Amino acid sequence: MNQDMIVILDLGSHNNTVIARAIRDLGVYSEIKAHDITVDELKALPNVKGIVISGGENNIIDGKEIDVYPEIYDAGYPVIAFDHALAKVENKKYPACENCLKEELKKFVFDTCKAEANWNMKNFVADQVEIVRKQVGDKKVLLALSGGVDSSVVSALLIKAIGNQLTCVHVNHGLMRKGESEQVVEVFQNQLHANLVYVDASERFLGKLENVDDPEKKRKIIGAEFIRVFEEEARKLDGIEFLAQGTIYPDIIESGTKTAKMVKSHHNVGGLPEDMQFSLVEPLYQLFKDEVRACGVELGLPYNMVYRQPFPGPGLGVRCLGAITKDRLEAVRESDAILREEFANAGLDKKVWQYFTVVPDFKSVGVKNNARSYDYPVIIRAVNTIDAMTASIEELEWPILKKITNRILAEVPNVNRVCYDLSPKPCATIEWE
Ligand code: XMP
Repeated sequence: MNQDMIVILDLGSHNNTVIARAIRDLGVYSEIKAHDITVDELKALPNVKGIVISGGENNIIDGKEIDVYPEIYDAGYPVIAFDHALAKVENKKYPACENCLKEELKKFVFDTCKAEANWNMKNFVADQVEIVRKQVGDKKVLLALSGGVDSSVVSALLIKAIGNQLTCVHVNHGLMRKGESEQVVEVFQNQLHANLVYVDASERFLGKLENVDDPEKKRKIIGAEFIRVFEEEARKLDGIEFLAQGTIYPDIIESGTKTAKMVKSHHNVGGLPEDMQFSLVEPLYQLFKDEVRACGVELGLPYNMVYRQPFPGPGLGVRCLGAITKDRLEAVRESDAILREEFANAGLDKKVWQYFTVVPDFKSVGVKNNARSYDYPVIIRAVNTIDAMTASIEELEWPILKKITNRILAEVPNVNRVCYDLSPKPCATIEWE
């Protein structure tokens, strides 16, 4: 293994990730592990240089206060404990400020643990390649490649590790942005020579969605159909024993504790049926989003794939409002492509968190070529947020708004009006459905 590691034991602090980030920012790899890790499990981890026990307010499970196994303290690793709940090592309270925490960690990591600052993406990739090879052996792995950042990075990593033992399945549900599925094929099939199964299920999805106007029903149909298509493809393949997932650290936080999540994900992965038994390969599960992107860059993925803005699973389906029709879906796709192009030209793609267009299911009157027109509006949305729970509007300058408006009106069929959505979240949500 190429890098030293500090293990953070989770005793219910909401600051685990802050500590993990602070240690990684020092150039030392850190992993958060459940409080009930055994000494043997700890010893099986590579290059552990020290342990941070991170206790806090969520330290009661089933009415009992949780603790680490006492043997951990005698396992031969330097230990530091934060939190007043833990007085076993030193009577330490949580440091008063973020900088004090960083200072304390720095002293612990370098002076006490003598760890080396050798955490970088090159070493991370090299280590994961080794780990995946050991885990998978000569068996086959399946992966749903959506084209999103996480699944793209995990694919690239696995192609490097196990080549054609990996089969990637890309389901084009017909609700992708312009050029997106084509880029997946170009990058993974043509450049990285992945074993890629490309499924054009556009017509199938559009058929299922015909005349469905309720947003929740649309979402459910898209989700369920996606699983069905993926499952059909999986059944055609022989001898798959592993399923790879682009799970990243925030997914784990969102699904509750690490241990609870691992149990759930075995059954819930892509909603695959119970009779298909897979083990999971999740090489990115300890990475934060920016680290996943850095890993993608290290693996040579294109910038626009690695730094792409968030895109919802149901895709353009939730931006073509009401019952989806082909003409309005095309209007969303084309107007979105223009918006993205102009944002990139203006450098706004690096500044604005999420930006897209929406086409509602009503028309308005206009004039085109000296004649009355009766066509759809396009709505522009551009928002900034930290965590997508609240969002503010990007205050776009008039010249760029005018340029985008003029291009959409001139280039996108069936559109005669462009609006700019000024609603923050709340009261609006980021997406319209
Ligand atoms: P809302 O509309 O709830 O969106 O303010 C918050 C963020 O989540 C994205 N989003 C989704 N992402 N699957 C996803 O992976 C979904 O079904 C989904 N719905 C919304 C949305 O684009 C925004 O970034």
